[in-house]
Amino acid sequence: MDKLLIEGGIPLEGSVRISGAKNAALPAMAAALLTSDRVELTNVPHVRDIITMGKLLAHMGAIVETPELPPTSMTIQAEQVNGAEAPYELVRTMRASILTLGPLVARTGSARVSLPGGCAIGARPVDLHLKALEQMGAEIGTSHGYVEARVPGGGRLRGGNVFFDKITVTGTENVLMAAALAEGETTIGNAAQEPEITDLADLLIKMGADIEGAGTSTIRVSGKEQLYGATHRVIPDRIEAGTFLVAGAITNGSLELTYCEPEHLRSIIAKLRDTGVEIRETAPGTLSVRGARKLIAADVRTEEYPGFATDMQAQFMALATQAKGTSVITETIFENRFLHASEMIRMGANISIEGRRAVVHGPTELSGTGVIASDLRASASLVLAGLVAKGETLIDRVYHIDRGYERIEEKLSSVGARIRRVQ
Ligand code: UD1
Repeated sequence: MDKLLIEGGIPLEGSVRISGAKNAALPAMAAALLTSDRVELTNVPHVRDIITMGKLLAHMGAIVETPELPPTSMTIQAEQVNGAEAPYELVRTMRASILTLGPLVARTGSARVSLPGGCAIGARPVDLHLKALEQMGAEIGTSHGYVEARVPGGGRLRGGNVFFDKITVTGTENVLMAAALAEGETTIGNAAQEPEITDLADLLIKMGADIEGAGTSTIRVSGKEQLYGATHRVIPDRIEAGTFLVAGAITNGSLELTYCEPEHLRSIIAKLRDTGVEIRETAPGTLSVRGARKLIAADVRTEEYPGFATDMQAQFMALATQAKGTSVITETIFENRFLHASEMIRMGANISIEGRRAVVHGPTELSGTGVIASDLRASASLVLAGLVAKGETLIDRVYHIDRGYERIEEKLSSVGARIRRVQ
């Protein structure tokens, strides 16, 4: 199994190109199931989850092609959907497989998708996805670990009033895709407002869908009988960009990030500025970050967009270990998302966990050791901790990081980090 070996203490200097957003590319790929035409996506990141989603779509009969190497563009044509089934072997490695449920049931009238099961960062149920699809006329049952959805009589889903009790990103995406091909109007209330939702809506509109209000808490969709092929450029990855902003800041370096979308990073940039980090937009789509000689503690509370992203909480914690004072980090989205804290404590951090709050006292000198990555963003935070730690940090289970970061060790090496992949 691959590991990452990092020798810390080097300020990062140079320029990093930010990849396309995994969490926008995944629903865009699933949306290709809604049409028999070809959907072409560009700026697709070459990460494990995208490969898994490609395999899943191919399993369902779609032709998935990646013409370049490394692939940043991809064409998907689901001329026919044969097996409307997402098997456990593929779903278990990637929860986002649930994104095929809405398009499948809307296109074929039936779908069988394995339940994602537990996840390191919390229970992460899909009850809200299922309830919403039921409100649109699907009959849903679960047996043998699978969700089975069908439209009675083999007809189309019908539009309806869907109101989410709790804001859910992939739940909103599933309903948005299903509604695009349903009969009549759908209103999605308490919808997620993440940029990835707006990006999906933009693609669906290019495919012929009628959608208003994406990016707000109420989305209206007027269903169409048919959708068509389209070409779409996936938005930049705001979490990868945020991670590199912290990498520049934590090493007291000076980095330039290109091909990013500063607008999507507003709450992250604001919070990093609170800690004394200097961030400037030097050109459209380009950010420069300069570490502060003395970082100052700041409290953070994760929230749905446009609040501070839960996917940046672990990386912020790494930074907080280097800031002077006490930082209180409150996680409101997932119930068990502090698994990285115990590894940082082993590296010398002073962190105590009280329920959903982590209290970080800094600055503390970190020292390298062997650590284990527990999930995607936790592994990114351990890389960041390793970049400032004294000596060598060896991160195990880096398959987590490969799920969502494109060539992270290459990108970091190119700006001076001493990091390499070892077996
Ligand atoms: C998406 C992102 C993930 C990010 C998360 C929150 C993708 C592929 N993944 O995950 O990176 O961390 O948003 O920004 O885009 N919930 C329920 N019932 C449901 C659905 C969700 O109780 O049916 C709960 C979850 O357990 C969690 C909260 O709602 O506590 C938010 O989860 P959700 O927005 O659905 O996260 P994902 O869409 O899975």
